[in-house]
Amino acid sequence: MKSPGQLKRLPQHVAIIMDGNGRWARQHGLPRLVGHKQGATTAQHVVEVFVEYKIPYLTLYAFSTENWNRPQREVRGLFRLLEERLDEGISLAQKEGIRIHHLGKLNGLSPKIQDAIRRALELTQDNTRMTLGLAFNYGGRDEIVEATRRLILKGIPAQDIDETVVGQYLYTAGIPDPDLIIRTGGEMRLSNFLTWQSAYAEIYFTPVLWPDFDKKEIDKALTIFSQRQRRFGSLAPE
Ligand code: FPP
Repeated sequence: MKSPGQLKRLPQHVAIIMDGNGRWARQHGLPRLVGHKQGATTAQHVVEVFVEYKIPYLTLYAFSTENWNRPQREVRGLFRLLEERLDEGISLAQKEGIRIHHLGKLNGLSPKIQDAIRRALELTQDNTRMTLGLAFNYGGRDEIVEATRRLILKGIPAQDIDETVVGQYLYTAGIPDPDLIIRTGGEMRLSNFLTWQSAYAEIYFTPVLWPDFDKKEIDKALTIFSQRQRRFGSLAPE
């Protein structure tokens, strides 16, 4: 396998559905929350690898608007985990020059989590080496509904609305669409992740459970991406 430096094409924006923490925990005879903790550690390692590979945009799906339907204990555990890991995340971001970006609704999260997320955004806003999107309390359909509401509230005339304008009202305003979406854990669906932005993304599914997703698995995904032919609805060159 070629190293990413030798690949002819690397994605600019990779987005990841980090699935399989629960099954990883079960396989190891551990509580689900330990799986999420291991998953958070994996997320840190994965960020470091993408920084090393000079991929400028990485977006991680950490908590969806549907994850509220999980048992309260698990939801609270995920919130606590975010709180606990965000400070480490900010230190890593400052060390590596990463700007942290939030995708999702702050509304509905506890004031403590809201403050922690706002602090992360503020402290890292001038970093330019990578933009790390944290999708937390995020839903793709919800994002489109929110964008529509804001377009209407702003009084944008119907004839002025096109795809570029809608894009400016999404959580990803100013961020290019993902070139590659990776889902670990074996399920083959997008689960309300980047519904608008995924229109022409290449999708890579792997059965590897998120806590086991490592540099070797990243290299595999990037190699497969580099072999895909992207046509964006057009024809392949003769
Ligand atoms: C899906 O695995 C994973 C999640 C719903 C949470 C993702 C969170 C992390 C990777 C930890 C990093 C996040 C924070 C909050 C710092 P699953 O529970 O659906 O696994 P399963 O399908 O095997 O049950």
